[in-house]
Amino acid sequence: MALQISPSILSADFARLADEAAAVTNADWLHVDVMDNHFVPNLTLGLPVVEALRKATSMPLDCHLMIEDPDRWAPPYAEAGAGSVTIHVEAAKSPVRTLREIRSLGARAAIAFNPATAIEPFEDLLGEVDMLLLMTVEPGFGGQKFLDMVLPKIRRARALIERHGGQIWLQVDGGVDADTIERCVVAGADVFVAGSAVYGASDPAAAVDALRFQAEQAQAEQAQVERALDERA
Ligand code: DX5
Ligand code: ZN
Repeated sequence: MALQISPSILSADFARLADEAAAVTNADWLHVDVMDNHFVPNLTLGLPVVEALRKATSMPLDCHLMIEDPDRWAPPYAEAGAGSVTIHVEAAKSPVRTLREIRSLGARAAIAFNPATAIEPFEDLLGEVDMLLLMTVEPGFGGQKFLDMVLPKIRRARALIERHGGQIWLQVDGGVDADTIERCVVAGADVFVAGSAVYGASDPAAAVDALRFQAEQAQAEQAQVERALDERA
């Protein structure tokens, strides 16, 4: 399972987004947090900025929509060239139609869950998505403390994904840094959003490399533990 890093530009300098994107081209994605001041108590950026970013960088855009009415607003992000569009299950009223529309427009489709939202009621949506995003903080702001209470849900999501063929990516978002990324790997996450841990560092590209290295080490150690357990069984 290849691990991926998606730096969140929420922690970048909004006046220099093209430069900030260029600073992390060693990452796999650029995570773009769209907030509408209704679904979350914060307002960030929207479609015009995503369209501008699309022209300013060749990095794939991972658009995380923390907005009301994603059924109406999500497909245009796919049309604007986002590589992945994530909608929140708490906000979507017609998730099947919306996820299908996102995919038909050529983007990967994903669903996000707030820390208190259970994944199990949405199992039937797994055939409609390419990624699950589990929030490891309450959405709305960067720089918050990682919520360990989400770890059991990450494990349950990994098990659910494996039962459904293992192709769906499992992203974690919020408080992911050098202190917490290993727990996320061990629990089964494979795509890591990091805002302050990347853009708060003096060298964002080095921070991406360090997070990736740490995650890969944890993954290798975990595989070794699982092999040893299998041999004992
Ligand atoms: C929070 C956003 C995150 C945020 C993460 O609602 O969805 O993507 O940028 O920032 P850090 O990594 O600083 O917690
Ligand atoms: Zn996000």
